Formats: sequence, structure tokens, C-alpha cells
Amino acid sequence: MSKSIVYTAVAGALLVLGSQAAFAAPDWSKVAKRDINVFHAGVTPIEWMTKKSDHSGSAGMRKGETCIGCHEEKGTLNFNFKRLADKELEPKGAPKTMMFPVSMQAAYDAANLYIRLTFKAPAGGADKGDKDNELKATMLFADAKVPQADQYGCWQSCHNDARTMPGADDKKPKYVPAGAYELVQWASKGNKVSDGSVTTERKMTGGTSGAKAEGGKSGDSYTITYTLKNPGEGKTVPFGIAVHADNASGRFHHVSLGYKLGIGADGDVKASKL
Ligand code: HEC
Repeated sequence: MSKSIVYTAVAGALLVLGSQAAFAAPDWSKVAKRDINVFHAGVTPIEWMTKKSDHSGSAGMRKGETCIGCHEEKGTLNFNFKRLADKELEPKGAPKTMMFPVSMQAAYDAANLYIRLTFKAPAGGADKGDKDNELKATMLFADAKVPQADQYGCWQSCHNDARTMPGADDKKPKYVPAGAYELVQWASKGNKVSDGSVTTERKMTGGTSGAKAEGGKSGDSYTITYTLKNPGEGKTVPFGIAVHADNASGRFHHVSLGYKLGIGADGDVKASKL
């Protein structure tokens, strides 16, 4: 055997080991599922949420109530979708399907946190601004400094002057007043993974979660698996999910309300210990 063949074989074995370490996928058939509904929220940024004349929930929000505390009922969301599809809150046009469930599973070991999302992405979108990607699935994880992140989920990053909002600067991305969200995105074109953050601006690179993601479509169902650095046992992390289905761009996503992920701790979704 020549030297080069030996080297190739060793390199191959290392590659296999390396990819197993990165994607040591849990046995998902043993991990509990939690359905999280994502919906088209129209133009309802944090400024709308916190204004009494727009949103009567704003008083309860100030008292510490969570979005899901008022809006999640019997496994669904109690929104008035006619209102969210109407010209007042959706000047451009609403998607045919205003809400759909995303099945979420989570597990962790000493090194990593694994999250799997499974869902059927609806067609019939109103905005097809992302010609490249049929689908993007994004998760945001708030750190402890994002104000009210445990109540409001991603809404602290959603502003009326951000890109694709009516009348807004088309270059201004989402941002938060303080703290940071980790941003992890899987995009269908070329299986692209973005590991970024939302602080005073949104960055699609430079994230600290060491995130990896794998995704794919089978029939009309998508399955996306994220592998992140384990943030630490005993932690509860606020998160939100956004799905850009049917080539949607910018604000034309279906988003979840704010939920909490418990890593050996309490949460709306509890990660299983492997
Ligand atoms: C204290 C209860 C309460 C809380 C907390 C609350 N809401 Fe609401 N929300 C309401 C009520 C009541 C309405 C309907 C009437 C209105 O808007 O005045 C509403 C309406 C809405 C609507 C418009 C669609 C509709 O059904 O009218 C959206 C979107 C919405 N809420 C999102 C949120 C989000 C996101 C949060 C968290 C950031 C939140 N709400 C927190 C009570 C609440």
C-alpha cells in the first residue's frame, strides 16, 4: 500500500468521527414532541404591541403576562386572523395559510443541545421576495439582557422601522435595544447554515453558539435539526421560531410567540437528557 492511500484512509476515518461528533443525532423517536404554532403576524411590531390603543394586551404585558399566557389556548392560538390579514395590519397581502404547527423536539448531552423541527410548509404566500430559498427556518435564543425576553420572545427585535415594514428603510435589519439574540438559520438553497446574532443590528455570521444545521424535505414535510453548544444544564432559554415558507422574505414569515426551552430546567419545551 502506498503512503498516500494510508493517509487517505486515516483522513476518511477522522472525517467520519468528526461529523459524528458534530451531529450525534439523538434517537428522536424517544424524544417528546411539542407543537408550536407559527403565524403570519402582519405589521404588529413591538411598538404596536405596547400601545394601548392598538393592542389591549399591552396593559397585561406591563404587569408581566406572557404572549402565550393570553394567546395560546387548547393547543392553538386565539388570534383574529381576519384582522391580521386585513389592510390595516397587512397592507401588502396575507398568505393563504395564516397559521401552521411546527413540531419541536429538544435533547442535550454534556457538549451539545439538539433541536429538531418538523412541519409541513404551506404554499400560497403573498410575498416571494427570496427567489433563492424556497424555505428558511430560523431560531432566535435570547440572552438574559434582552428586556422581557421571557415574556415577549422575538418581538423585542421586531420594529416598525425595520426592513420590509411599510415605509421603512429597506436596508435596516432587525435589532434589540439591549442584550442579544443568538440567531441560527437553515436555508434550503445549498443547505446553508447561518450562525449569527441580533444586537443593535442583525448579523448573519459571527455567532457564538457554534451552530450547525441540517435540513431537508420529504414529500411536503420539512425536517430541520440544529446542533448548538449546550448553554448549560439548569438554564431556561427564551426562544422563538420563524419560518419563511414559499420563498417569503423579510417580515413575510410565520413566527412563533415567545417560548422557553428548559435544559434540565423548567420550560414550555423541556430538552431530554441523553
Ligand atoms: C394580557 C393579555 C395579552 C397579552 C399579554 C398579549 N396579548 Fe395580544 N391581544 C390580547 C387581546 C385581548 C387582543 C385582541 C384585542 C386587541 O388587540 O385589542 C390581542 C391582539 C393581538 C394581536 C392582533 C390579532 C387579534 O387577534 O386581534 C396580535 C398579533 C397579538 N395580540 C400578539 C401578541 C404578542 C406577540 C404578545 C406578546 C408580545 C401579546 N399579544 C401579548 C391580549 C394579550
